[in-house]
Amino acid sequence: MSAISIEKSENLEGRIIVQGAKNEVLPVLCATVVNGNISIIHNCPRISDVYNTIRILNNIGCKTEWIDNNSLMVNSKNLNDYRITCNFARMMRSSIIFTGALVSRCKKAVCSYPGGCVIGERPIDIHIDAFRQMGIKVISSNKGIECIRYQEKDCRIKLRFPSVGATENIILASIIGNQTVYIYNYAKEPEIISLCSFLIKMGGIIDIRKEYIKITGVNKSCLKNVEYCIESDRIVAGTYMFAVAGCKGDVVLEGADINKLRASADILKSAGVLINSDTNRGIAFDKKYIRIKMKERFSVKGKVITGPYPYFSTDMQSPLMALMAGNNTEFICIENMFENRFKMSDELIKMGADIIVKENMAIIKGKQLHGCVVNATDLRSGAGLVIAGLGAEGRTVIQHADYIYRGYEDILRDINNIGGNIHII
Ligand code: UD1
Repeated sequence: MSAISIEKSENLEGRIIVQGAKNEVLPVLCATVVNGNISIIHNCPRISDVYNTIRILNNIGCKTEWIDNNSLMVNSKNLNDYRITCNFARMMRSSIIFTGALVSRCKKAVCSYPGGCVIGERPIDIHIDAFRQMGIKVISSNKGIECIRYQEKDCRIKLRFPSVGATENIILASIIGNQTVYIYNYAKEPEIISLCSFLIKMGGIIDIRKEYIKITGVNKSCLKNVEYCIESDRIVAGTYMFAVAGCKGDVVLEGADINKLRASADILKSAGVLINSDTNRGIAFDKKYIRIKMKERFSVKGKVITGPYPYFSTDMQSPLMALMAGNNTEFICIENMFENRFKMSDELIKMGADIIVKENMAIIKGKQLHGCVVNATDLRSGAGLVIAGLGAEGRTVIQHADYIYRGYEDILRDINNIGGNIHII
């Protein structure tokens, strides 16, 4: 799929079962190399980043098999390489997380500089600095990094910024060995808690406190087979919440967890969107859900600043900008995480949007958008353009739509199931 076509869609109605979370499953898949045993991952989303991670696992000797539609088995017993240098690694930022996992399992790792979406420079200095404090020698060249564990050293690491990837890498690098590692100012994203739960189920010893995470290294023989279920994707759920808010309608997002979407839900509520997630008073579901209802044209004035969890997620910023640009709004977005996240504004401007970008601030005056040919420049901008296209008059064509499949299992299926009009061309 390289291009999709969207017609203006109104009154979305029905249910979507929200897929498993991309940012949870990718580090969990990296972590499957640690136990040298079998891991079964349920609710594994069939997104292209997962397929690329499977290719990396296969490249280093792991066996993988889909055992049903969304359950993946990884057997890392015959791991035979500690180098993550294939092309697939360069395509994804998350491939850097293999470094920590391989240092635990093999005491060494070689990793190309990771790629991923073109949302900013994305350095790895926090990862490298932490590894060095842990007794891991890191040699960086223009091709990537080589890590060699020469010491199993107790240490207390304070991150200069709560980086998600660095927190995951340190946890993974500390799981096997004779050391105790404390991480202060760690990332509080739900995906960190999930990675720890997966590793604890495997036999790792991790203590998560408000101030720090403490990892007590264990002998590899303590790590066993593990079966784990990935939670629903909060960014996918948030994207669909924004789509319904912009198109109007009444949609239930099954599996979505409102507790992970507070910042987005608060913005929608201030615009009069009804959000219900209370199983006692809402539709009777025995699992988590969010019901989102909007009857009026979306209208709001406000400001949002992206930041580490639980602040407004940088991954939701493009979908939010698209929602604001096409409705009756005056809104300011301040992006504090990635310097190129506003690239999508050029595409929205082609659709008639009024957006002024000044450094890390975008000033948006919402108006009716008009369909035209636009380009997805990264995963979340692609999702944002889908939201813009659903609200725009006429036909919107999104080129380079493959980006969207990095994180959304089947956005066409999901949106069409609730009455949207979106097709592959
Ligand atoms: C993860 C998510 C991504 C999300 C981001 C922030 C995955 C696979 N990806 O990315 O979707 O947008 O968290 O919530 O989970 N930084 C440094 N040096 C470093 C590491 C990071 O300066 O060594 C900076 C980054 O440039 C960025 C900020 O810290 O400005 C946050 O990055 P980080 O939390 O590491 O994001 P990722 O783990 O790459």
